[in-house]
Amino acid sequence: MKTDGGEYIHGSDSREQKRLSLLNDLLNDASLEAMDLKGGEKILDIGSGLGQFTRMMARTVGTEGEVVGVERDPRQIEEAIRQAKSDGEHGLAEFRRGDAVDIPLEKNEWGTFDVAHARFLLEHVPDPLSVVRTMVRAVKVGGRVILEDDDHDVMRIWPELPVIEQLWRTYADSFRKLGNDPFIGRRLVSLLHEAGANPARNQWLPFSSCAGNPLFDAFVENFAGVLGGARQTILDTSSITASDFDKAISDLKEWARLPDAALWYGTFWAEGVRRE
Ligand SMILES: C[S@@+](CC[C@H](N)C(=O)[O-])C[C@H]1O[C@@H](n2cnc3c(N)ncnc32)[C@H](O)[C@@H]1O
Repeated sequence: MKTDGGEYIHGSDSREQKRLSLLNDLLNDASLEAMDLKGGEKILDIGSGLGQFTRMMARTVGTEGEVVGVERDPRQIEEAIRQAKSDGEHGLAEFRRGDAVDIPLEKNEWGTFDVAHARFLLEHVPDPLSVVRTMVRAVKVGGRVILEDDDHDVMRIWPELPVIEQLWRTYADSFRKLGNDPFIGRRLVSLLHEAGANPARNQWLPFSSCAGNPLFDAFVENFAGVLGGARQTILDTSSITASDFDKAISDLKEWARLPDAALWYGTFWAEGVRRE
């Protein structure tokens, strides 16, 4: 799907929605802890996807708080609402359809949020600064803007698996070819500063595992899913052939059976406070 807000490389078919749900299972506790939410806060979550983390924030701020998720893809919203209903949490968070570059807020909502949050969104938009500026405008003076994103340069695996390391670089290149920045993570503090927020915190949330850990298969499944979901874009924007691509993914699954297989990754996380 393509709008002015850029092309989303992963799409929203049911396989990708399953991967995104799995990623939420692996990451949400750490993301929530980092945010240090207080009860009663009003939160805006842009690029809210399937809404699992949006609802987690809503549970945390409680009935005195309010959480609005903004998502561009109607299939993501539909699934977010389906999951909320199935968990008995329909209405806990509000989901609105809209683009991060033109978010659907009423006039009297601007400048009223305590926190604006976006996770894994800025890597998919061609003008991330305009999105962060919008987030700064959405929060009150003194409100927090929290950005979590990827920097695809930090992926490491051992024992070495050159086909996957090469495929990962090709995957990162395909972001550039779509006009997006695969290394946006390192720019988060700078974007906050430029957008009118005083940087306040900066950290990595670790996303690492190894053979023998009960969650390792889920980590590997996520990596294979990230690449698999971008398969067509990678084939369209690089010289890699379909059979080389598929072989690399099957090599990754073989690699994951090694008794000493290990992988390291991390989510870049930064917080700024609206200046004026
Ligand atoms: C990787 S998912 C992350 C979803 C959620 N933030 C999470 O962490 O689970 C990125 C989401 O951003 C949405 N998205 C991409 N570009 C967007 C844009 N310009 N405006 C609004 N949503 C967008 C995609 O449809 C997708 O649901």
